[in-house]
Amino acid sequence: MAIDPKTVESDRVLILDYGSQYTHLITRRIRALSVFSLCISGTSPLSAIADHHPRVVILSGGPHSVHTPGSPSFPDGFVEWAEANGVFVLGICYGLQLIVQKLGGEVRIGEKQEYGRMEIEVERSSGIFGNKKCGDSQTVWMSHGDEAARLPEGFEVVARSRQGAFAAIQNQTRRFYGLQYHPEVTHSPLGMETLCYFLFDVCGVKAGWKMENVLDQEIKVIKETVGPCKHVICALSGGVDSTVAATLVHKAIGDRLHCIFVDNGLLRYKERERVMETFERDLHLPVICVDATNDFLSKLKGVEDPEMKRKIIGKEFISIFDAFAHELEKKFGTKPSYLVQGTLYPDVIESCPPPGSGSTHSHTIKSHHNVGGLPKDMKLKLIEPLKLLFKDEVRQMGKILNVPEGFLKRHPFPGPGLAVRVIGDVTVGNYLDTLRLVDEIFIQAIKDAGLYDVIWQAFAVFLPVKTVGVQGDQRTHGHAVALRAVTSEDGMTADWYPFESKFLAEVSQKICNSVRAVNRVSYDITSKPPSTIEWE
Ligand code: XMP
Repeated sequence: MAIDPKTVESDRVLILDYGSQYTHLITRRIRALSVFSLCISGTSPLSAIADHHPRVVILSGGPHSVHTPGSPSFPDGFVEWAEANGVFVLGICYGLQLIVQKLGGEVRIGEKQEYGRMEIEVERSSGIFGNKKCGDSQTVWMSHGDEAARLPEGFEVVARSRQGAFAAIQNQTRRFYGLQYHPEVTHSPLGMETLCYFLFDVCGVKAGWKMENVLDQEIKVIKETVGPCKHVICALSGGVDSTVAATLVHKAIGDRLHCIFVDNGLLRYKERERVMETFERDLHLPVICVDATNDFLSKLKGVEDPEMKRKIIGKEFISIFDAFAHELEKKFGTKPSYLVQGTLYPDVIESCPPPGSGSTHSHTIKSHHNVGGLPKDMKLKLIEPLKLLFKDEVRQMGKILNVPEGFLKRHPFPGPGLAVRVIGDVTVGNYLDTLRLVDEIFIQAIKDAGLYDVIWQAFAVFLPVKTVGVQGDQRTHGHAVALRAVTSEDGMTADWYPFESKFLAEVSQKICNSVRAVNRVSYDITSKPPSTIEWE
């Protein structure tokens, strides 16, 4: 259950996804203009497209060639439907080529690839470029192999690349437009301006996507769904998504929401106290804190395999939630009916897989447990109030709900916690405590340097190896730790953060001086890929 898009006060822009890595970015960019946009699979049936009542449909880019048999396309009848309903269509990159091919033009298999920054020049004054004069030029980001060779009847060239390729085309009468480049990326500096001209001037789109409206609407839907007496449970992780989701549901149904926060013994330094304080003092959320340290650690004893650790932790969480639900049943005489989850939009968008991949899902690198795997006999229905939102929108909603800013900006933290940051058996000696101290020093130093918000995620890793050191003229045999800090958009790819050497030297010194067990600190300088962000 989520917001009913039909009730949002804004014209809708529907994006048909053909697999470009930039598709989600277009959706977000358009929402940033206060226009409601949604993204669905590029091969969705016509009825699914029409159900959204879009004013504009954008055909995304993608890695395919229109000449490859079985390459994805919009459904039969799409062009006729768009024309009959006054819908504007914009093809971007592969989307442009689809328009050209399907409407009777010709796409040539590219001999030379156009890739990277290019200059394009306006050839005909058009609304899509704010009626800029002929000869006006701008830099854009191109990334294509095939190219349109002959335009369908009725289409005209609006701009060309310096190499002579069609960069922008239009058929104003039929309301079809195409850009061979990506206006949504920052490498096209005037791209957003072009999108604005297109949406507001050419298509006359009405804006009105405001987080306050989304929030009111969400609360109404939750109230109607849950009704006057049913109970709802939510597992809080201390992260942004579950906290915002729970706060929202609490606003809708009050204390019929029951939250649980599990201390699995794998949390960071003072994490339990800090998180519980925010829940209670700032958010007034009814949360039960369960100390399950022994349950988790006893099951993890001797376990070295990272995948095994994740599975054990996931299973243990489930049995604790199960017990929580049974307790509530005893107390209220009725089973909880709903489970709140902080699922976000990127988790649910259907995307087109790359050609030849033979699958619709990417390979499992690590099994990320989410609290979704609850026992079937609990028969809980899901409430996923953030299902249509991106992370930055969830933060915006959290702000309106008075979730403290510091909380909203917290770095992501994995469900299996420090178990994936202590290599091997996490229960040996005082590995976990040592890691907590090191991590706290590192994170505090990052905050003191004003870098916390610039870095996407930072943490320390405990390495179960002994290394030789010399401290106070004494030979030591201590442990090694690694520090990791990355910049990223969404965690899918990441770059290591280039700290100044002075910063690293000071942190390293502080760690070795204050954490006795450690005599060696290294900084992880691998990006993702080839590494992952967490070490296990
Ligand atoms: P990796 O290590 O796969 O991490 O590059 C990408 C992002 O996901 C987080 N992560 C997890 N989150 N359960 C979670 O809830 C998990 O099992 C898990 N593993 C990794 C990681 O912290 C990073 O932000």
